[in-house]
Amino acid sequence: MRIYEAKDYNDLSRKAANIISAQIIMKPDAVLGLATGSTPIGTYKQLIEWYEKGDLDFKEIKTINLDEYKGIGPENEQSYYHFMRTNLFDHINIDLANTNIPNGLEEDIEKECARYDDIINQSGGIDLQLLGIGCNGHIGFNEPGISFDKSTHCVKLADNTIQANARFFESIEDVPKYAYSMGIKNIMQAKSILLVASGENKAKALYEALYGPITPAVPASVLQLHNNVSIVADEEALSIVKSEKESLL
Ligand code: F6R
Repeated sequence: MRIYEAKDYNDLSRKAANIISAQIIMKPDAVLGLATGSTPIGTYKQLIEWYEKGDLDFKEIKTINLDEYKGIGPENEQSYYHFMRTNLFDHINIDLANTNIPNGLEEDIEKECARYDDIINQSGGIDLQLLGIGCNGHIGFNEPGISFDKSTHCVKLADNTIQANARFFESIEDVPKYAYSMGIKNIMQAKSILLVASGENKAKALYEALYGPITPAVPASVLQLHNNVSIVADEEALSIVKSEKESLL
């Protein structure tokens, strides 16, 4: 596991975008696993800037997003589909036919999960999976307690996740209670993983994920078992990691 410390959010975004760019340059038809949330927005902005400068080409890139709320459609401004269009896809030359996000409107859970697993498996494998981390240690919508051997599934969101996501909705009642998410098994099958974390509210989860016991209670702790993980985090997110290390010196 490699940990890259960023000075601030801008630095984090540039460092993360550099890692993604390297993947795109090395393999122009790479399969990228993508995340939504606040943290990767700056990374996507940086990728767009480099695309506009002519340094990146997304023509052959394929993407598979981690998750989508269940019960809302692509036209809903809070859908992850909408997020990906506005924060990345509409600004680069990606072929939308090569982008994949779970279908939040599919009522048949078994059917949607099987469809999504097929997409992941038939893609030849995710070359680089981008992840954020929840304050409770979740990755994707794999909430504490999740079994590590799950592939795509429908999750009931944890109360603290609903609270954390309420900032994007008019009221907390509007936050969907369920979501489709890639499972830990899908994430761990990615060839490489890039986790981004920003802010003090992530410090405890990040510390536990990197140095705590590997346990479903902190889903991100499973990443300790992957052989190609890069962490890009700012000083605040790394504050506990750093203070614990210093106390050992
Ligand atoms: C998003 C996702 C979530 C977020 C996590 C952190 O697709 O799967 O796991 O990465 O909730 O979100 P932010 O970046 O908003 O703090």
